[in-house]
Amino acid sequence: MSDNITIAVSKGRILEQSLPLLAKLGIHPEEDPNSSRKLIFATSEPNIRLIIIRATDVPTYVEYGAADIGIAGKDVLMEYDGDGLYEPLDLGICKCRLSLAGPKQAQNSNGRLRIATKYVKTTRDYFATQGKQVEIIKLYGSMELAPVLGLADLIVDLVESGNTLKANGMVELEKIVDISSRLVVNKAAMKMKQSLIKPLITRLADIL
Ligand code: PRP
Repeated sequence: MSDNITIAVSKGRILEQSLPLLAKLGIHPEEDPNSSRKLIFATSEPNIRLIIIRATDVPTYVEYGAADIGIAGKDVLMEYDGDGLYEPLDLGICKCRLSLAGPKQAQNSNGRLRIATKYVKTTRDYFATQGKQVEIIKLYGSMELAPVLGLADLIVDLVESGNTLKANGMVELEKIVDISSRLVVNKAAMKMKQSLIKPLITRLADIL
């Protein structure tokens, strides 16, 4: 399969903002992945196919070579433990930030702060650099609910417009890191499929 390339993208914002970039490279899926239940799509380029997977699975597929290339948020990459990925390009799409947020009327908590988040590793590192001991509660979504129901004091989550925080009576307290989507490439594929992958990266870099 050294003459074929599999590109992994996740459904939602990343897919919506990746498709125009791929289109500029002349890569058009055979049908619209936004509205299809299929997981694999042939494209207008006979040797390039697209797979649609969960955002958190993109680094895994790429590290193990099940996909050669992936598009993943920096938030997901920072949480990923593997070390088999190249990250050659910041695609500048899906820009937002990972922030510490909490209720507008902060409760004075005397004990150890409880932080609800999907981003356990990044949150742990963030508080460790501040020398603060916190209790981290892992959630898989709707973090904004946790302080409202007393599950946690604060949350660490992605913020784009700030509307979700506002709608739940919360405010952004501190930006932890800027986030955008990155191109990731399998290390072996970068060597073995160099003649296919390198030009793609170069053309993408030119477009950006
Ligand atoms: C993200 C994030 C916030 C929201 C922030 O959720 O977790 O809930 O977007 O965006 P805003 O500042 O523009 O309101 P997403 O919609 O990606 O769904 P998720 O909870 O499944 O991650």
